[in-house]
Amino acid sequence: MCGIVGAIAQRDVSQILVEGLKRLEYRGYDSAGVAIYKDNAIHRIRRLGKVAELDEALQQNPLPGGLGIAHTRWATHGEPSERNAHPHMSQDNIALVHNGIIENHDELRDELKAKGYVFTSDTDTEVMAHLLHEELKTNSNLHHALFAATKKLDGAYGTVAIDTNQPDKMVVARSGSPLVIGKGIGEYFIASDQLALLPVTREFIYLEENEVAEVRRDGVTIWDEHGNTVTREFEVSDIQHDAVDKGQYRHFMLKEIHEQPSVVSDALEGRIVNHKIFVETLGQNANKVFEKVEALQLIACGTSYNAALVAKYWVEEFLKIPCLVEIASEYRYRHTAVLPNSLFITISQSGETADTLAALKKAKTEGYLASLTVCNSPASSMVRESDFTLITRAGTEIGVASTKAFTAQLVSLMLLMVSIGKAKGMDEQTEKDIAIALEHLPYEIQAALEQAKEIDELSKEFAEKHHTLFLGRGSQYPIAMEAALKLKEISYIHAEAYAAGELKHGPLALIDSDMPVVVVAPKDNLLEKLKSNIEEVRSRSGQLFVFADESAKIQETDGITVFPVKSEYSITAPMVYTIPMQLLSYYVALIKGTDVDQPRNLAKSVTVE
Ligand code: M6R
Repeated sequence: MCGIVGAIAQRDVSQILVEGLKRLEYRGYDSAGVAIYKDNAIHRIRRLGKVAELDEALQQNPLPGGLGIAHTRWATHGEPSERNAHPHMSQDNIALVHNGIIENHDELRDELKAKGYVFTSDTDTEVMAHLLHEELKTNSNLHHALFAATKKLDGAYGTVAIDTNQPDKMVVARSGSPLVIGKGIGEYFIASDQLALLPVTREFIYLEENEVAEVRRDGVTIWDEHGNTVTREFEVSDIQHDAVDKGQYRHFMLKEIHEQPSVVSDALEGRIVNHKIFVETLGQNANKVFEKVEALQLIACGTSYNAALVAKYWVEEFLKIPCLVEIASEYRYRHTAVLPNSLFITISQSGETADTLAALKKAKTEGYLASLTVCNSPASSMVRESDFTLITRAGTEIGVASTKAFTAQLVSLMLLMVSIGKAKGMDEQTEKDIAIALEHLPYEIQAALEQAKEIDELSKEFAEKHHTLFLGRGSQYPIAMEAALKLKEISYIHAEAYAAGELKHGPLALIDSDMPVVVVAPKDNLLEKLKSNIEEVRSRSGQLFVFADESAKIQETDGITVFPVKSEYSITAPMVYTIPMQLLSYYVALIKGTDVDQPRNLAKSVTVE
């Protein structure tokens, strides 16, 4: 949520900052700004809208300088506007950018106002700039002042500040919002995601919770929360430079949808040998813990939550142990009762989602056997906070609407389910059946992708609608939920998902000839039940679009359009049926002309509550 870039170098850093912001734009995109030190003063340019607006302003008024900070915003306090855009300044000499939320900002604002500070924005961040300025009156060194200021903050922050009186450094602090420091030759950089810095460096250090650092041209010094110096080596990242390149595709989302066959292959690489499943990178003694597991508690948000719901069907069918699934924002504030010998599992693409991270921290005090995260970001907070980790290997996902990360989560959850199952005595035939289904999955997904043209055609039926219902049963019910989430997220069409059997308990009242109803209908033991649900809709003149296996023998007739999907293995069918759902929402959004990769009001990584 929000993107930060900072740089200190001998050369002009203004374009490095803007390029970095463009690479972070997926995190927030309602306004952007830079503050650059030049000729003994801080010069600031901010613009409402995307980074391109800021870039344009800098083309017209170049601001060359060797020290600067920049920010792309996703509004929390104060509407998107130029005056609320970061960097925020105090008395012309301090400039500061911030990710996160300061919860005690009202109280601090009153105190600072009483001391004569004048506020020019509605943000919580401006409080931090003035607070830092105030602390500098008693702590002349910038990092000491930042350290003292952070002690007065309640909430979450990743922040970078510069001071005209100490122009040989940037200072940074982190609590609940990630920051990474990059190393060049005689130059250093800071960002909220290493992606921002890939054009200038591959060497990174992640700041840990509650650390403060001073970043100079000749080096970096880090202090822990007690003020002790921390020694940490820079590590070379293997992330691909072109991860933020759309290639031949019009949108990142489309590129990421089409990457799914190789994403699934990557997730499986080295993990299936001779139809046997081995996941050996979870962490020390994982198997010993798995032997004792008698229940799972899965926690996630959004798309990751939908992946957790699919996993529940698998766990209870194959492991025959309870699998509880809950949305992180509910779990974190609820009185919870922990089942004996439960394993706590978080699922997250980013590994930084504030609610999921808070739920994980809460769970660590609640007597679970251990914590495990299924995560796409190896250097993330969730990975660092968990006892065990399963990396989903989807690669960098830029589109705000999650696609390939979801499929990789499902594959990883299946591998995890088998790993736990094997530790608890799963029979070889079950393992073999699952392994075979997984081995075929990249091909089945590829075949589903080849129907993109037909789905593009079908999408015309939805573009003028205001609502859509998605129906599924069993493990396809969460796939219907994910389809509804995708459609509303990028096309802004109101969409809901129902377990098909629930229709008659209320939602059937919504059905008329103007209501498209999408049904996910693989061949499984619930198909005949689903056919009855289809009839319930048809007899009320609903407009049905049924994604079904050919063998399902659902007849195309008035009011029913059947779209064939080939999925040989029922266990992996949720992944296969996901593909046409993703393509459908993408093509509907294309017709509607929305901003597919950066839909309104959203951000990729939700690091605030
Ligand atoms: O990074 P996470 O997986 O923890 O993110 C959770 C949700 O914010 C995320 O899945 C969101 O729902 C997606 N934008 C949906 O496409």
